[in-house]
Amino acid sequence: MSGPLSRVLLPDTASVDGRGRLSVGRVDLLDLAEEHGTPLFVYDEAHLRARCREAVAAFGDGVAYGSKAFLCRAMAQLVHEEGMHLDVATGGELHVALAAGLPPERIVLHGNNKSVDELRRACDLGVRVVVDSFAELDRLEALPTPTRVLVRVTPGVEAHTHEYVRTGQTDSKFGFGLGSGDAARAVERVLRSPFLELVGIHAHIGSQIFLLASFENAVEALAGFVKPLDVGELCLGGGLGVPYVEGEEAPSITEWAAVLHRAVAGAGIAARVTVEPGRAIAATAGLTLYRVGTVKEIPGVRTYVSVDGGMSDNPRPVLYGSGYEAFLPRVTGAARPFTATVVGKHCESGDLIVRDACLPADLAVGDVLCTPVTGAYGHSMASNYNKVPRPPVLFVADGRARVVVRRETDDDLLRLDL
Ligand code: LLP
Repeated sequence: MSGPLSRVLLPDTASVDGRGRLSVGRVDLLDLAEEHGTPLFVYDEAHLRARCREAVAAFGDGVAYGSKAFLCRAMAQLVHEEGMHLDVATGGELHVALAAGLPPERIVLHGNNKSVDELRRACDLGVRVVVDSFAELDRLEALPTPTRVLVRVTPGVEAHTHEYVRTGQTDSKFGFGLGSGDAARAVERVLRSPFLELVGIHAHIGSQIFLLASFENAVEALAGFVKPLDVGELCLGGGLGVPYVEGEEAPSITEWAAVLHRAVAGAGIAARVTVEPGRAIAATAGLTLYRVGTVKEIPGVRTYVSVDGGMSDNPRPVLYGSGYEAFLPRVTGAARPFTATVVGKHCESGDLIVRDACLPADLAVGDVLCTPVTGAYGHSMASNYNKVPRPPVLFVADGRARVVVRRETDDDLLRLDL
């Protein structure tokens, strides 16, 4: 496709001025690149808030943000202000959530290999724990602290998504298998424990799922198990997909909720339905700005457009073969008839951001290039590979930009060396 970028791939408050320049939250993106340098993550605060509100309206209290998608203090605070709980998957994510001032009772701890220290911290604070294994039950039972737990079940369904982000199938490192009877044994142990209180059942079948039927299958598989337990909550995980490239379509959070509520009611399950979306909250709210450095044309073969970031700020293309779009925010609505592969600055050929990107014909060295839909699993999976400092994160709203995570400096690259 060589047409202009679709509006659905941009944050809610994106707007284009008479010259074609793109603003988000009424802040001009080229001005931001000038002032803060590149690469740069920019998030539309209104978009983040709108998705949180949509989730709370659709699911009610208890719906959590899957913080692995993108977390920093400002994000944890925003999510809390908008009434969502927070799902953390490690002691590190828990630490950031607490540093942001979140009440422990609004946090839930996940993980297939929680350490004794992580569990102790969570239990002492009153954080809910999603129990994932018998070894973890051993560790929890050794802690004499009253703790509210959910039991994580692998329902034995395969979601339609990349195998690395599929988690509902029997062959999974996560959770207690339903078919094997492990899930029932785990529930029995929790019910027998003097300190553990069973508050719910949890199942997360995968991530970047477009087909709501995958969730319906999970509910159907879980119904016979959940109904007799009479638990208060059935958490169906995260996993709602978002469009990344032209032509993709995904259900909204509201549509997802309607299907889940119908499936749960239809199966005769009385428990309250909750979810913990990450990507559906953060992905489209964020975009990345890079500066074009080198353009290399190999006649008859390919043109490479090199930018000043790469797999260290967005490892998803390398890890999952994920697709992205690219465009120039100085001519946002322009046709994109020029095909080139956008690559990073790292020392390996696999360091690719967009294979065969559609770009405006007049792209030139020095241009600011934008990849949209980078708000989830970009900054959170960023690394210092090749000792590249990680980019800053800016929140924009109402004509103002604030730096919520500063750019790493060269000295930061040495701060752990002794
Ligand atoms: N709950 C649990 C238990 C999870 O494991 C996850 C994601 C979520 C919620 C949030 O899922 P979401 O709504 O964001 O799909 N790095 C991969 C995605 C890994 C997802 C891991 N778990 C990627 O970049 O696509």
